[in-house]
Amino acid sequence: MYRTNTCGELRISNAGQKVTLAGWVQKARKLGGMTFIDLRDRYGITQLVTEQEIEVGREWVIQVTGEVVERQSKNPKMDTGDVEIKIETVKVLNKAQTPPFTIEEVSDGGDDIRAKYRYLDLRRAPLQRALALRHRLAQEIRSYLDAQGFMEIETPYLIKSTPEGARDFVVPSRMNPGEFYALPQSPQTFKQLLMVAGYDRYFQIVRCFRDEDLRADRQPEFTQIDCEMSFVEQEDVLNTFEGMMRQMFKNALGVDIPDPLPRMSWYDAMDNYGSDKPDVRFGMKIHEISDLVKGSGFSVFDSAEYVGAICAPVAEYTRKQIDELTEWVKRPQVGAKGLVYIKLTAEGIKSSVDKFYSPEQLQKVCDRLGAKTGDMLLVLCGAKRKTQTQLGVLRIEMGNRLGLRDPKVFAPLWIVDFPLLEWDDETQRFYAMHHPFTAPKPEHEKWFYSDKKEDLERVCANAYDFVLNGTELGGGSIRIHNADMQQRMFEVLGISKEDAEYKFGFIINAFKFGAPPHGGLAFGFDRVCALFGGQETIRDYIAFPKNNQGRDVMIDSPSQIDQLQLDELQLDIRKNK
Ligand code: AMO
Repeated sequence: MYRTNTCGELRISNAGQKVTLAGWVQKARKLGGMTFIDLRDRYGITQLVTEQEIEVGREWVIQVTGEVVERQSKNPKMDTGDVEIKIETVKVLNKAQTPPFTIEEVSDGGDDIRAKYRYLDLRRAPLQRALALRHRLAQEIRSYLDAQGFMEIETPYLIKSTPEGARDFVVPSRMNPGEFYALPQSPQTFKQLLMVAGYDRYFQIVRCFRDEDLRADRQPEFTQIDCEMSFVEQEDVLNTFEGMMRQMFKNALGVDIPDPLPRMSWYDAMDNYGSDKPDVRFGMKIHEISDLVKGSGFSVFDSAEYVGAICAPVAEYTRKQIDELTEWVKRPQVGAKGLVYIKLTAEGIKSSVDKFYSPEQLQKVCDRLGAKTGDMLLVLCGAKRKTQTQLGVLRIEMGNRLGLRDPKVFAPLWIVDFPLLEWDDETQRFYAMHHPFTAPKPEHEKWFYSDKKEDLERVCANAYDFVLNGTELGGGSIRIHNADMQQRMFEVLGISKEDAEYKFGFIINAFKFGAPPHGGLAFGFDRVCALFGGQETIRDYIAFPKNNQGRDVMIDSPSQIDQLQLDELQLDIRKNK
């Protein structure tokens, strides 16, 4: 037997017992003829003590046997801080090179070196807590969905393109030269086919692959909690998955979330928060002020489609701070042309547009936003949705600067009633706002079959997103289950009949064989884990993630393959370019 106990287990009640522990040497120090060793495993750290001369180094793997004794100087910060082990025998199981960074709660290693030695970084307690949380949440999901009658069914990874809006990762087929599989961006079409097959409650905790630009909350391969149900309406889907989230919050974090969860229409989210994933932990809502400021001779506002503002308690901002904020909104990531401010100070109203407006006019604007002394209005203008989005980004920034975004406060909600389609000026065509399998609301079908752009723009879908603290955690919809309607959808999206047949003939065809009404959704599991853990970055909740360039620097991938493999695949790529 390698060990009788773990390094996180022993307490004062174990005093007097003879135990054997095995683990990694976190630290060894000599003090007045004694050697103290901190021995670590994933359960915790236990102090060992001996008068013998022993040779151990950091991260050596050792096995010790000895007696549990009460410590003279206790450490209340450690669970095992009341005891230590008086070493009788030590066995070195394996020596270790000195690690390239400290393996402690806070490491001295930078991101790159820790990524290269991910297996060492994973020894650290914060990462172990993150992966333990991930495991706990996965168990909660399975237990909840199993109790609700869902079946976990695996779908293939070597498939053909599913349109989720990103680029596909592709895999060449040796047996079919010149042909490629695509890795799934999601199991969307397969779960719908499972509904046609009669498996009316499906789920899968499944890897998805998307070749897109990476950010803190995006990885090229990530995990979805993917679900689909038959014979349901939107209400049934929302209730089922609200229930799942409620159980996860309760059992993993001990947090009660509201029952039922708040819902907000996509239109209200855009108008009031400038985002389809609003952070509702704080107010600072957007207000349109076009009617109050247009027609007073200030041409910037007069020529704008929309003028809107938010109100933040920052009237003390200096000229320099306002200039800095103006530069911030002008960065390409935000894209505003400029920033107008209106301050409500004890001395009265001051603004960057005093020339054009009387104090009474500006007071009316302040009244609309409920501003009081000490507040400052931040005003942007331009095309309506674009300006609202910019105000939304500014609102989040002000929320960050003012400390209003506490990661320990959870404000989940559903965003509902999304438009079905989104017009793109550049390519002059409609795109599916969610994906092309989403059904129009039955009462909007008349517009869906119209040829007019204005009609199509009005069509809403029974599509929904689960949003938490400004992050989209999941989304789904009630689907099209009728072959003709699916064909119409592809037509609206400008996909030719032949192209639709080539790419999606299998699903259009399946809908001709008795497809039940169905709908579902998918949560981003990595994002769920990160937010539950109070982080915005998903990387630490994935055991072996990729960096921002999509590389795994530990195994050094992607990498070149040898000429033989290329030849077999009949890929004509010259090695070393
Ligand atoms: P969607 O594309 O909205 O929907 O994806 C669902 C959820 O997956 C997460 N997500 C990601 N997480 C990490 N890295 C990424 N690159 C990434 N991309 C997406 C998000 C998102 O909310 N088939 C539909 C679902 C459905 O209609 O049932 C789908 O995939 O949290």
